[in-house]
Amino acid sequence: MPASRLAILTAGGDCAGLNAVIRGIVCAAARRSMEVVGFTEGYEGLLDPGRTKLLTPENTRGIAATGGTILGSTNKGRFQTRRGANGQIVLPEPLVRAARTALEQNRAGALVVLGGDGSLRTALQLSRAGLRVLGVPKTIDNDIDSTDVTFGFDTAVARVAAAVEDLRTTAESHRRMMVLEVMGRHTGWLALHGAVAGGAEIALIPEIPFDGDALVRLVKEADRRGQRSFVAVVAEGARAKTGRQIRRQTSTGDSRLGGIGAHVESLVAARTGRETRSCPLGHLQRGGPPTAFDRVLGQQFGVRAVELAADGMFGRMVSYRFGSVTDVALADAVGRRRSVSPDSQILRHARALGLFLGE
Ligand code: F6P
Repeated sequence: MPASRLAILTAGGDCAGLNAVIRGIVCAAARRSMEVVGFTEGYEGLLDPGRTKLLTPENTRGIAATGGTILGSTNKGRFQTRRGANGQIVLPEPLVRAARTALEQNRAGALVVLGGDGSLRTALQLSRAGLRVLGVPKTIDNDIDSTDVTFGFDTAVARVAAAVEDLRTTAESHRRMMVLEVMGRHTGWLALHGAVAGGAEIALIPEIPFDGDALVRLVKEADRRGQRSFVAVVAEGARAKTGRQIRRQTSTGDSRLGGIGAHVESLVAARTGRETRSCPLGHLQRGGPPTAFDRVLGQQFGVRAVELAADGMFGRMVSYRFGSVTDVALADAVGRRRSVSPDSQILRHARALGLFLGE
């Protein structure tokens, strides 16, 4: 049965394009006479169902071009799934009940979750519990399975590329190596695409533990040829063959990947004598307005989510495959990290372009 009123929420770390998806959903729903109500602050909003926002084509006009999420989001909230006694992923029953009640109180026939892997895992559990749920894949990490691209990724790549270009001019002035640490969690999509787009010489990614000796040789040889500058893009999840991933504590006590850029800086400076500096790009990769690609993709994803709801097809995730917006079973996408595989085209092309990958 189709839903005549849709609820939506944005969960997990934000990224550019969330508002474009919201706009797409609102406009496509309005054309089918469906209403859209937004829960605020991610899944946490389901526990406070009185604080919803009715979203209309009028009050969402212009948001597709803006960053962040007009609904707010929560990264680590109470709706995180856990492993039950038998090892299965579960969502505590009181939370499932709360979600069901929140949807009923708001007369919402279905819930659309805009989220990354963790948030979509919660969506899958709600769906398995019988709620009518749809997912839309969001993350700058581009690590969700069963979709070729997530919204937010293109914008983050553009930010990395711009940073590489900016670092180049200062690196050239000072004959330095600049190390740019970028996000991406356990995958190297962002580092790899950003390095190629920005014209960096080096990309170190989690999927290829790097050989420190080879990196040192590369810099020394280029030194001999008189190369003035290097820019290295290092994924936060990268690690040396002989080392482990580096983590740091946030101000709230959470553990986050971070620090490998400074490690590469010390390694190169100590063993080559080349003056080296590192900087993390941080949340500049997530903030600010989406690229045109993410604005279009986001709105298209929104349209597809509404089509699924209108057709009564729940438990699905909107996806982008081979140049088209389509959909897959949530269960086929969730819980499987999409990494840069050894035979991936971007890896082969990066090597063909002469990018050093730490091998
Ligand atoms: O998953 C998205 C992401 O931006 C990762 O690339 C990064 O490791 C993490 O979130 C940062 O999270 P937070 O905003 O909580 O510091």
